[in-house]
Amino acid sequence: MTTRPRHFLSLLDLDPDGLQALLNRAGELKAMQKAGEPHASLPGRTLAMIFEKSSTRTRVSFEAGMTQLGGHALFLSPRDTQLGRGEPIEDSARVLSRMVDAVMIRTFGHERIERFAAHSRVPVINGLTDRCHPCQLLADLQTYQEHRGPIRGRCVLWVGDGNNMCHSYINAARLLDFELRIACPEGHDPDPDILAAAGDRVRILRDPVEAAEGVDLVVTDVWASMGQEQEQARRERDFAGYQVTAELMSRTAPDAPFMHCLPAHRGEEVAAEVIDGPRSLVWDEAENRLHAQKALLEHLLRD
Ligand code: CP
Ligand code: NVA
Repeated sequence: MTTRPRHFLSLLDLDPDGLQALLNRAGELKAMQKAGEPHASLPGRTLAMIFEKSSTRTRVSFEAGMTQLGGHALFLSPRDTQLGRGEPIEDSARVLSRMVDAVMIRTFGHERIERFAAHSRVPVINGLTDRCHPCQLLADLQTYQEHRGPIRGRCVLWVGDGNNMCHSYINAARLLDFELRIACPEGHDPDPDILAAAGDRVRILRDPVEAAEGVDLVVTDVWASMGQEQEQARRERDFAGYQVTAELMSRTAPDAPFMHCLPAHRGEEVAAEVIDGPRSLVWDEAENRLHAQKALLEHLLRD
């Protein structure tokens, strides 16, 4: 094969129109599924899913999504593949991509997925790296738009760690042109290059309650991401005061929703009364992983 496959390693692999079209299609696929209308657009196609970290939502949404599109997904863990015994990622990419139609990878360093993609004949999807989590943003954007309309021109508050999810919110702000405030403690800022590329749409603030003034959406994530478990105690100290509380939510624009990619820790990054309260969209957000990724699979595999 001579043409380079279309990968989805970051949200920036889509342009603004492509992203909006994909979100619209996600909404259509959701409606079709709810109406029981058949939509098996990828018959006979296979998605390989490599998980080097744990997952509930990503695994189940991709696997169920491929089934609903008429295809098949296979779960590969390093524990029982040769990847876990040291077979080079480049060789794994060469071999797998001769057998399947797309590969989803959840791993640690982002360079690992880039190396895989560089040697793959088929589209590679980022199911989360330490650098970004673009599939989650598809679901978050779909969820915001279905509940509140276009996000363009709105103001979003990110509270907590400048982590993979925060980086993907910065990329989303660039693509869909919304304002993003990031309330994080010193020492936990997002990557300076990702931040700089977003220009003045994105600002870092230190006081989360003041930062919430008038915002249209509040989002947070765990304080210790996968791979940082040994830092849990230090991070709990660093992030004290960065919980999304009812008081913080009282400062936003009226009825601004709350989102969280999950899994969540009630009493750490979010108060139970917020995540379990009437302004929380987390369950629709989780469900939309399924619909948004079906639209992504169609986008990568159909043409
Ligand atoms: N939000 C998310 O990616 O969840 P999982 O870790 O369960 O896949
Ligand atoms: N930042 C979290 C997201 C989990 C979906 C992590 O990387 O563990």
